[in-house]
Amino acid sequence: MALWGEIVRISVVGLGYVGLVTAVGFAKWGHQVTGVEADKERLLALLSGSVPFFEPHLAGLVRSECASGRLRFAASTREGINRAQLVFTAVGTDDGHGGWQTDTMSVCLEEVVPSIADDAALVVRSTLPPDFVRRMPTLVNAIRVSAGKPDVPVFLNPEFTREGQALQDFLTPERVVIGIGDDPSGKGTTLLKRAYKSANAPILEMGAVDACFAKLGANLFLATKISFANELAALCDAHGADINSVVGAMALDSRIGGKFLRAGIGFGGSCLPHQVTMTAEERVAADVGTPLMQAVRRVNDEQPQRLVDRLRAILGGTLAGKSIAMLGLTFKPETDDVREAPALRVAEILLSQGADIVAYDPMVGARSRAQAIVPGLRVAASARAALTGADAAALVTEWREFLELDWTEAAEWMKTPAIVDGRNALDPAEMLRCGFRYAAFGRRIDLDGTSPHRSFRIEPTTIATKAPRGNGLPVAVT
Ligand code: UGA
Repeated sequence: MALWGEIVRISVVGLGYVGLVTAVGFAKWGHQVTGVEADKERLLALLSGSVPFFEPHLAGLVRSECASGRLRFAASTREGINRAQLVFTAVGTDDGHGGWQTDTMSVCLEEVVPSIADDAALVVRSTLPPDFVRRMPTLVNAIRVSAGKPDVPVFLNPEFTREGQALQDFLTPERVVIGIGDDPSGKGTTLLKRAYKSANAPILEMGAVDACFAKLGANLFLATKISFANELAALCDAHGADINSVVGAMALDSRIGGKFLRAGIGFGGSCLPHQVTMTAEERVAADVGTPLMQAVRRVNDEQPQRLVDRLRAILGGTLAGKSIAMLGLTFKPETDDVREAPALRVAEILLSQGADIVAYDPMVGARSRAQAIVPGLRVAASARAALTGADAAALVTEWREFLELDWTEAAEWMKTPAIVDGRNALDPAEMLRCGFRYAAFGRRIDLDGTSPHRSFRIEPTTIATKAPRGNGLPVAVT
C-alpha cells in the first residue's frame, strides 16, 4: 500500500476490461484513482456498483475501493483527468474482424491529450500495432502544440493480464514494462515507477516500440507453444503415445517448462488469435516474413475440425441427425467472453453437417451471445439438460463444473455415453470406468484403467473407446 507522499493521482480513460482492472488495481495499492468512461450505460452500471462483464472478484473490489474513497468515476474527460499526474488510456484496438484498428485510440488521444496537466504524463495501456506506437509521441506532441500546451511525457505500458485472473496478474505481476516514447527529463518515468512500487516485481525500462514487442512477443510465444503442443498431440495420436506423459517429461526441462502446452481445440479470446493473425499477415519489408506465425495460425485453425472429426468417428461415421451436447462456450473458464471462442467454430461446423447441438455454459451471457453469433445453436440451462438424450458430448471449455460432474450419472442421462474431450481435461481411465466412449487429443487410446503401458497399434483417426457399459475391454474404432 502506497504511503502518504508516495500516492499518485491517476486517471484511467476507458473502463473496459483492461482499464477497469488497471483503475481498481492502482486504487487497491493506495493511489487516488479517477476512472473516466464515455459510455453512459457503462458509467451508470459502475456507479451503481455493478461491472458490465464477468471477472472474478472485480465487482467486489470496485465497490470496496469506491467505498474507501480511493476510486471514483467521472463522465467528463476534462473533469476526470485535469488533476491527474498520470493519465492512462485503455480503449479497444481490435476491429471485430481479426484486425487492428487505431481510430478509437486516435479519437481518444485527440480528446484527452489537450486536457492533460502540463506536469503530468500520458500512459497508453492498450495493445497497439508497432507502427502506431512508433508514431505515437509525434502524434501526441502535435496535439499538444495545436492546443497551445507544452509537451508531455508519453509511455506505452503494456498489460500482461489474463482474463479470469486479471486482478491477481495486475497486483502480483511477474514484470512491469515501461516503454518510453518520450520523456527527456525522466520525470514521467519516476512517477510511473512510483505508481508501480507496490507491484514488487522487476520494472523494465525500454523504448516504446520495444515494449510493444515485449507484449506481442509474449503472446505470440504462448500461441506458438499451444500450436506446438497440438502438432505434437497429432503425432502422439499417430504413434499411440500419450501427450500428457510426453509434456510431463518435457516440462521438467527448465529450458522448456510445462505451461501453455495443453493440447486441445486451440486458443481463442480477444488477444492471441488476433495478434497471431495480424503478425502472420504483416509484410514489413520484402525480406521480413512471418512463416512461423502463419503455421501457428494454421494449426490453430484446424483444431475445431479435428474435434468434429473425432465426434464423427466416435459416433460411428455420421453426424447428420445426431444430437450433440456441447459443454462450454467461452474461450476458457472463468470468463464470460466468447470472442474467437473455438466452441463457436465447432458449433458452426457441426450444424453445417446436420447435427443438432444443445450447448450449456455456466455463463448466461455467453449462452445468449453464442446464440446470436451462431444461428441454429440451441442452449440449455444446465449440463444435465444439455446431456439428456444426447448421442455424444463435446467438452469445449474446461469449467470446474464439468470436471466435477458425476459422469456415471451423466452416462445414464445420455442416449449413448460418448464424449470428445476438447481440452484433455478429463481422466480417460475414469471416463471409461463410467461407461463412456472417450476420445481426446494425443491421449493414448489403450487406457482401460489397468495398464497404461499396453501397446496398441492405432491409425491417426483411430478413437479410443470401450463399448458403452460393455465388457471392459478397450476397442479401437476408426
Ligand atoms: C492472454 C495472455 O495470456 C495474457 O498474458 C495477455 O495479457 C492477454 O492475452 C492480453 O493480450 O491482453 P487471455 O487472452 O486472457 O490472455 O487468455 P490465455 O489464458 O492466454 O488463454 C488463451 C487461449 O489459449 C484460451 O483459449 C485457452 O484455452 C488456450 N490455451 C491455453 C490452450 O489451448 N492450451 C494451453 O495450454 C493454454
